[in-house]
Amino acid sequence: MLARKLGQQLGRPTQSLVGWVLSKFFKVHNHLLEENAVKLSEIQPDETVLELGHGPGLGLQEAVQKLTGPQGKLLGVDYSEYMHRMASERLQEQIAAGKVKLFLSDVAEMPIADNSVDKVFHCNCYYFWPDLKRATKEIHRVLKPGGLMVTTIRLDRVALFASKKVFPSENWRPEAYMQALESSGFTDIRMEERKHKLIQYEAIFATAAK
Ligand SMILES: C[S@@+](CC[C@H](N)C(=O)[O-])C[C@H]1O[C@@H](n2cnc3c(N)ncnc32)[C@H](O)[C@@H]1O
Repeated sequence: MLARKLGQQLGRPTQSLVGWVLSKFFKVHNHLLEENAVKLSEIQPDETVLELGHGPGLGLQEAVQKLTGPQGKLLGVDYSEYMHRMASERLQEQIAAGKVKLFLSDVAEMPIADNSVDKVFHCNCYYFWPDLKRATKEIHRVLKPGGLMVTTIRLDRVALFASKKVFPSENWRPEAYMQALESSGFTDIRMEERKHKLIQYEAIFATAAK
């Protein structure tokens, strides 16, 4: 019961005491994953980059610093009103300047044009998607031919959460996500072990073949 409620808040935080505590938790514990997802995306100054399930906006903040060219653009999608508002406040200057655009939207149905994005990254997000195939098809749709998807995970932590029944399904398993990517038209799908200082994490990469 408690685990299910925690899972609901992690999957779609609301403006509440638990939502607020979790937003602080994301900032402290997930910064490493966000920072490394941005690094591994190898963002170029004039690219269009999209973060899915951005939460409070730490990854967005990292990514926007790489987009220094006049064409460089950052997009974000999150369906939690609370997180959308928090990230919008964090990036208000860049939003006002037209550099960043955030959408209050489901990953499975994004208001983003076909073949318009160079890189997509996300952290701690796909475990909550009820239909992985629908989401990966949507990611494939918005990516340009040859576009890159990167996600970073701390698998040991995720498996521990899963053992406590925090997630709604078995979709947290990397194999399930990678299978959905493959059936949606991605190629060169691989998971690599990485280290940041003493902390081990995993990164999944996939390229949108078109
Ligand atoms: C556990 S939080 C992670 C936030 C941030 N990426 C981090 O690692 O700190 C998951 C985020 O993904 C968002 N999310 C989950 N499923 C989503 C979906 N189907 N569409 C859009 N956002 C989603 C939630 O609202 C939440 O902000």
